[in-house]
Amino acid sequence: MCGIVGYLGKRNAYPVLIKGLKRLEYRGYDSAGVALLTKDGDLRVYKTKGKVADLENFSSDKDTTGTVGIAHTRWATHGEPNSTNAHPHISFTGNLAIIHNGIIENYAVLKKQLQEKGIEFKSNTDTEVLVQLIEYVRTKKNVDLLTAVRIALRSVIGAYAIAILDKNDPDQIIAARKSSPLVVGIGEEEFFLGSDASPIIEYTDKVIYLDDKDIAVIRRGKDVEVVDFNNEKMEHEVTKVDLNLAQIEKGGFPHFMLKEIFEQPDCLKDCMRGRVNVEANNVTLSAIIDYRKHLINPRRIIIVACGTSWHAGLIGKQLIEDFCQIPVEVEYASEFRYSKPVINEQDVVIAISQSGETADTLAAIELAKSKGAFIYGICNAIGSSIPRATNTGSYIHVGPEIGVASTKAFTGQVTVLTMLALALGKERGTIDNVRYSKVLTELNAIPEKMEELLKQGDAIKDISRIFTYAHNFLYLGRGYNYPVALEGALKLKEISYIHAEGYPAAEMKHGPIALIDDEMPVVVVATRNVLYEKVVSNIQEIKARKARVIAIVSEGDETIRKMADSVIELPHTEECLEPLLASIPLQMLAYYIAVAKGKDVDQPRNLAKSVTVE
Ligand code: F6R
Repeated sequence: MCGIVGYLGKRNAYPVLIKGLKRLEYRGYDSAGVALLTKDGDLRVYKTKGKVADLENFSSDKDTTGTVGIAHTRWATHGEPNSTNAHPHISFTGNLAIIHNGIIENYAVLKKQLQEKGIEFKSNTDTEVLVQLIEYVRTKKNVDLLTAVRIALRSVIGAYAIAILDKNDPDQIIAARKSSPLVVGIGEEEFFLGSDASPIIEYTDKVIYLDDKDIAVIRRGKDVEVVDFNNEKMEHEVTKVDLNLAQIEKGGFPHFMLKEIFEQPDCLKDCMRGRVNVEANNVTLSAIIDYRKHLINPRRIIIVACGTSWHAGLIGKQLIEDFCQIPVEVEYASEFRYSKPVINEQDVVIAISQSGETADTLAAIELAKSKGAFIYGICNAIGSSIPRATNTGSYIHVGPEIGVASTKAFTGQVTVLTMLALALGKERGTIDNVRYSKVLTELNAIPEKMEELLKQGDAIKDISRIFTYAHNFLYLGRGYNYPVALEGALKLKEISYIHAEGYPAAEMKHGPIALIDDEMPVVVVATRNVLYEKVVSNIQEIKARKARVIAIVSEGDETIRKMADSVIELPHTEECLEPLLASIPLQMLAYYIAVAKGKDVDQPRNLAKSVTVE
């Protein structure tokens, strides 16, 4: 979703801001803008619908000088994507410029009150309310900008990360956050702002992650000062950001998504490093050691997540029930947050999120906390809001995921859930030693098997060319591979815009079979496990209706090879680990189909990387 960049220092701000916006493009947006305080004391605002490149074109013949500025990519919520609604927005005096991520829930009430006081609005956005309110407070009460921001934010309900420039004070940026991330970068006589660290790391690795209700005053020649709404000083450590430039660049791949698909073997090694020890026959998750008493014997586990993370949760349910014999429910965070869940302090809630910023998942955590449940987070983005809101948890350590369609985060989440289930199962004595060792050894071997699988990339690319005509796809799987089918379908629809549905294979005959004809490709995950024969029957039923079958099978399966139109073989592994392998060809299939159709794989239409609104 929206991206924020800010700069104050000795360089020309504009190139830093534009580069920063490009680094944030992965978040998804539909317009972009920049505000600069120029040498001659002017506040210049340039904004346009479209991409950052469009903004560059638009600004190419304009004055872009100035050593302080703020810039934004907007993902439309209130008001259509156009240059009027794009940020920055300017106050009625023409003196303040603001950029904002998040949603102001009481914007309509505030807007009405301000309009009654004679203030005219130019845009349809909730953001403009903020800048008009702050300016109204400042002029009416004759206070400085920081005081006006503190007072104004007290009457604002909603989520925000904001940055404000004052035309009459070119040595200052004021920034604030609530439920929307904001990072301040500290360089040599210069400061940076970002909605995450990616626009900053090129210049400095020293950052301050702002907390909710923090207001940061960034002043030339001074240390960053952070206060709360009551002007109380908030102490903040300057931390070293654990991110490097190579991680957020494409490294020779045409798209981030392909890079991230191919990174998965290394990512899973990073995820397991220091945790899986095959020689010692042990898996260690520090959270389980530190919080044993909360985790060892819960009445029930509830997994809350959205999208791909929810699919990982479905696999987690099977792993935990299988190894730990604890009942597990998996809920969409968006539904859970508005339900009336019967939970208490005997329950453990596992929140899964790549970005760590998903608004629905955060709200589900808050609800579960209010009922006394113990919260365990499984996240990727270090220092994001969800790890800070949970009691404990485990990072998946797969590095920044830039492609909007989640790939390596999914396999990282499933890997952490496997380690969690193994560690808990062992502690509880619910998994026998032979099985424990077997799964652990196989888990450790997954990266190597993924390497093998990735070599089939060209074959999958060939298969994908046949299917670009399709308007609908069906994905089928059973047991551990049912969530894989759901995830495969989600990947395809997200980036190729082909309608795709995932189903448990046996459900086909209860409805979806009506859709099957020679124009409906069906992807079947049909590995050799206890349900194999039943899935083979499903393939026969599909072939009898003349659909093309793409089958994901175990190595050496000649039976299905004779029946299916295309076959992708997976190396053998334990059944519970098959999702880690089976998801790879489905990611590649979606990727190559989308590329063949000429779609924008890394930034699919209407989607955002981090969904910080409801
Ligand atoms: C799918 C995808 C989304 C996210 C969902 C949750 O490729 O990326 O479905 O999985 O928005 O996001 P996180 O995991 O960041 O909470």
